[in-house]
Amino acid sequence: MDRNECKRLIEIAIEAREGAYTPYSNFKVGAALLTDDGKVFTGCNIENASYGATICAERTALVKAISNGFRNFTALAVVGKKGSYTYPCGICRQFIIEFGKNIKIIVAKTPEDYKIFAIEELLPFGFTGEDF
Ligand code: THU
Repeated sequence: MDRNECKRLIEIAIEAREGAYTPYSNFKVGAALLTDDGKVFTGCNIENASYGATICAERTALVKAISNGFRNFTALAVVGKKGSYTYPCGICRQFIIEFGKNIKIIVAKTPEDYKIFAIEELLPFGFTGEDF
């Protein structure tokens, strides 16, 4: 991932954040998921009065991609509160690593200010299909 690719993915995640449905937390998150063949799927968080039914932005993007037949992902950009890095929650880390230990997670404050981790770094010793 070069700087331009990261910048573009972050910009898409920022736009996707606008779709967030967050009447309970008012904490809006956007995500942009890059497939290995260059397609981008977006996601936002969608809350529910039954709080546990909430889906995070990262999983929204993955569900959209996977249900459309895509399985191979290069990177996932995540933007939350302005001015801080928002890291995927534990459930999302597990959900992401299912599709590859080397997927790059880009946590961004702005299109120019971001950090990149392999999902395996965010979920060390994770449980995956390889453990069966
Ligand atoms: N949330 C995400 O969408 N992604 C994250 O990485 C962290 C948390 C959402 C879930 C909930 O709607 C709100 O942020 C507050 O937890």
